[in-house]
Amino acid sequence: MSTERTLVLIKPDGVRRQLSGAILARIEAKGYVLAELKKLSAGRELLEQHYAEHEGKPFYEPLLEFMQSGPVVAAIFEGERVIEGFRSLAGVTDPTTAAPGTIRGDFGRDWGLAVQQNLVHGSDSVESAEREIAIWF
Ligand code: PPS
Repeated sequence: MSTERTLVLIKPDGVRRQLSGAILARIEAKGYVLAELKKLSAGRELLEQHYAEHEGKPFYEPLLEFMQSGPVVAAIFEGERVIEGFRSLAGVTDPTTAAPGTIRGDFGRDWGLAVQQNLVHGSDSVESAEREIAIWF
């Protein structure tokens, strides 16, 4: 088993609600190692690269706007199977149905807004993790 790296983003809703520390603590408590961390305001160009595979989907423009609505926290976490492990910690995309015990399930819900505010992003494969890390760091 080889050590993986994953990109974790705490989205503007998580930062605004002062949940960054609680979210990072959960990831560390599971045993993953924080390798890099920064807070930044993401510009459209960076987000277009990050979300390139979703261009044209109905949620693409609202998602890009939401991601520019405030600062985000970007982190690299390391560990065996961290990509799968973090996605399991995060829960499914829709925070309303994400299981209790997950980050989205415990901290998120539908706020009746046009855009899904689901607190975190995690890479979904080794290839996307390396691609996304190169974009953000
Ligand atoms: S897809 O189409 O199955 O690939 O979509 P999914 O993997 O569920 O989501 C891809 C990213 O888009 C975000 N998403 C949304 N954001 C805002 N509003 C809506 N309605 C919406 N639907 C999907 C979702 O959170 C994923 O972003 P990341 O940053 O990876 O979490």
